[in-house]
Parts: sequence; structure tokens; C-alpha cells
Amino acid sequence: MNRTNDAGPSGLRSLHLLSADATVRDAVAALEAASPKLIVIVAGDGRLIRTVTDGDIRRGLLAGIEFQDGVTELPGRDPVTVKESDPLEESQTTLLESKVDTLVAVNESGEPVALHTASDLGQGVLLSPPHMGPNERRYVDRAFDENWIAPAGPNLAEFEKKLSAVTCCDEVLAVSSGTAALHLALRVLGVSAGDRVYVSDLTFVASVQPILYQGATPVLIDSEPVGWNISPIAIRRKLTEDAKAGQLPKAIIVVHIYGQNADIEPILAAADEYGVPVVEDAAESLGASYHNRASGSHGRLSAYSFNGNKIITTSGGGALATDSPALIDRARKLSTQGRDDALHYQHSDVAYNYRMSNVLAGIGIGQLDSLQDRVAARRKVFERYRSGLEAQRGISFQADLPGASGNRWLTVIRLDPRHIHLHPYQLMARLKDAGIETRPGWKPMHLQPLCAGFEFVPHDEQRVISSTLFLQTLCLPSGSSLAQATQNRIITQIRKVLDEG
Ligand SMILES: Cc1ncc(COP(=O)(O)O)c(C=O)c1O
Repeated sequence: MNRTNDAGPSGLRSLHLLSADATVRDAVAALEAASPKLIVIVAGDGRLIRTVTDGDIRRGLLAGIEFQDGVTELPGRDPVTVKESDPLEESQTTLLESKVDTLVAVNESGEPVALHTASDLGQGVLLSPPHMGPNERRYVDRAFDENWIAPAGPNLAEFEKKLSAVTCCDEVLAVSSGTAALHLALRVLGVSAGDRVYVSDLTFVASVQPILYQGATPVLIDSEPVGWNISPIAIRRKLTEDAKAGQLPKAIIVVHIYGQNADIEPILAAADEYGVPVVEDAAESLGASYHNRASGSHGRLSAYSFNGNKIITTSGGGALATDSPALIDRARKLSTQGRDDALHYQHSDVAYNYRMSNVLAGIGIGQLDSLQDRVAARRKVFERYRSGLEAQRGISFQADLPGASGNRWLTVIRLDPRHIHLHPYQLMARLKDAGIETRPGWKPMHLQPLCAGFEFVPHDEQRVISSTLFLQTLCLPSGSSLAQATQNRIITQIRKVLDEG
């Protein structure tokens, strides 16, 4: 046996298991991919026998143990264990008292289920931490080995090619952030001062900022009540009204919020009717799909983010994607200071320094290798929250629309005030006391001081959806590295807080 624990890692890390009949050579190979550098040895019935570190191997080799010898012959000390159900504080105390860096969490049968590292326990449970795989470092090393420490190079080309396959868009330009990608999208569509741009009201401010960079005016469109994304009904109503007034928007930015795809077909139908291009803000939805096509592949252009909290990350970064070579060529030029086709440095356009670094693209290639696993893990996290909490009266979740499959980047819980007399911030405070990080749902743009005075278009005459969602929602820890045992603790804690009222 040589595998990574299906239950997932603790905090940020994977649990690497080897069976007792493995050799020292097997342990050396397994340690290569392990982070933290610790291998867990289990008996035939799955119970924990011991752990192996680099230090154990070094001491064993010095004492005459050979690579082909059994791993259990290595010197070492008994592993320090905690129960998977132990409260965080107890694990923190054990860690301090035992003076080790890593604890092994075991279940009732003595089987290892997760690792707790000192840094994970110190930080508590994070909302959406980065989750590195085994290959990222190799591509970063390649950039160093080849001295491609620049916003150009083989990693960048390979990252864009792989992204093109994943996003089902023919052309991809990797840039320094998702915000930069959105800005370039608006620039290549010719959005400029005085233009109007429709945009999802329920979003992070980065969807709106590039509209303002261009001196254009955002028109803030409400959510629909099921999937919480931009309302196709409100878009159509507004387009009809604006066509009559002779003030159609220059573009529509559709955000796929929390990784769930918006109802893009009726939106495209309405936009096409009026000849308005759609830009998809897929910053949060890489790996999601709608009617079996990748999220972000439906509109004229789309923007992705690889910020540290996203489903995959390059620490910071983004990408612009489209099927149009002409649009991507224009965007590429604008992303590199708009240099004209001349031998000398000649420039005719206002442009930017937006290209992604070849070093960071190396992290991106490694991360893309794991994308499907990361989506599956986040969807599993969502399912566990749903099955663990849906019996509580007044709790609901953002829906997958028919034909859509979200990546569940963040699981967001909704508390119905008719049944739960607790504001999401009170729940947030109680979870914080237990070392669990949560975050309020996005505050809609029409409630932001930055957007004061901009037009807001409600879902229908009777209802405003986005502000209700803001008042009733809380984002839960959703990382793809969240261990089942840790998630069980979160669910238990939420139930406890809700039961106490
Ligand atoms: C919906 C949305 N749009 C745009 C962005 C901007 O991405 P970045 O942080 O990479 O600029 C983000 C995330 O940060 C986002 O959540």
C-alpha cells in the first residue's frame, strides 16, 4: 500500500500511508511527495503502527540499515496521537506538551485519519487555504534552472495551453490577476468613458472596479433567488427598457458567484437579441460547468482568478479566455505596455504591465494537474455540510441550477430568520472562538459606498434578492484540504450554536 488518505489532509496537508511490509526505499520515495515530511505506517487492519520522518531514515542508514530493509526496522519514537473527535484546544495542548511538530489523528478503531501540524493548529481552520500538490515545485524549479524568471517563458506557454483545454476556450492569456483579466476584457470590447456596463450586484468589488477604471458606469443587476447569480429576468427587463431609451450597455459582466454557474443561456439569448457582448467573471468558478460546457466558455470573453484563496492558485494571478484570436492578440498587446510592431520601442496606446510571471505559471501548471481532484473535494465538503446540517430548520444552501455543476468553491450557509433567531455574525463570532474561520457573504455592490448613486435593478418589482442574501448568509471553511474529522467538528459546533439559539 502506498497512498494518500482519502479522508484528506488536516488543515493544509496530506496524510501519506505505507503498509508495514514496505521498505526503507518505499519510505524515501513516499517522503518525496509528502508535506509535511512524515509517512504513516499502518498494519494490515489499517491501524496506526508508527510514523517515519527523514530523520528516522538518516539515523537508520547511519546505524547500518539498508534501503531494501523493512521500514519498521528504522529507529524512531512512538507517534503522538489525538482522537479525531478531540476539540482543537486539546490537540493544541498535546502538541505543546509533546514538543513534536505533527500529531496523528486516529479514529475509534485506531486508524489514522488526518495529520495536525503545528502551523495548522496555530491558525485554526481556515476558510479556503491554498492546497499544493506534488508537482508545483518541480515546475518552479524548472523556471529557476532555465533562468526564465520573467513574464515570459516555457511555463507560461504550457500553463496557457493547459488552461485552454480545461476552460474549453481556444485562446488564453495568463495575467497578473483576475481583476487585470476583467480590465483587459473591457478594454478589448471598447468600453470607455460614458458607456454603461451591466454587472452582477452580488459579487466581490473586483467585478466592478475595471468598469470604473474605464470611466464607464456600472448598472447593478440583482440576483435570482435559487442560484443567487445575476437575474436573467432583470437583465431582459432592463435591456428592453434601455433599448427603448437608446442607451444599451456596452457589455454585461456575469459573475458565477461562489463557484456556481449563473443561468447563462437565457442571459446570452437576451444579450444576443440586443447585440450586447457578455463577459463571464469566472474568477470563482474554474472547474464548474453548465450544460456540459466549462464555466466561462459561453460568453465572448471570460476572466479567471488564481488568487491564494481560489480553487487553484498561483499565489496571485488570473487569465483571460476567449475563442477569438483577434481579441486575445489585442489583449496580449495591451498587457505588455502596448508595444507597436517596430524594432525600436514605439507605443501608441495606453496599456498595462499585466503579464503573469513564468515562475508563478509553474505553480499554475502543477495546480491544474489537481484541478479535478480539488473540485471533487470541494463538492464533497459541500455534501457533508448539507447532509450534516439540512435537518436543522431554517438552514438552506445555494442551489446548482438544472444542468449546472458548480465547483462549490465556497459552501455558503443561509439562515432563515423566521426559524433561526441568530444573525450570521453571531454564528461567525461563536465559530471564531472555536478556532474556525468563516466570512460574511459578499456585500452587494448597491450597498457599497463606492457604488452610491449607480442604478440598481431588482429581480422583480416586489423583491430585492441580493441584500436579503447578504443579511442571511455565511461562508464556511471549504478548502479542498479540509479533513473530514475537522469538518465534523465544524458541523457539530454549528449545530451546538444553533441549538443554544
Ligand atoms: C467574483 C470575483 N471577481 C474577480 C476577482 C478578482 O480576482 P483577483 O483577486 O485575482 O484580482 C475575484 C477574486 O478575488 C472574485 O471573487
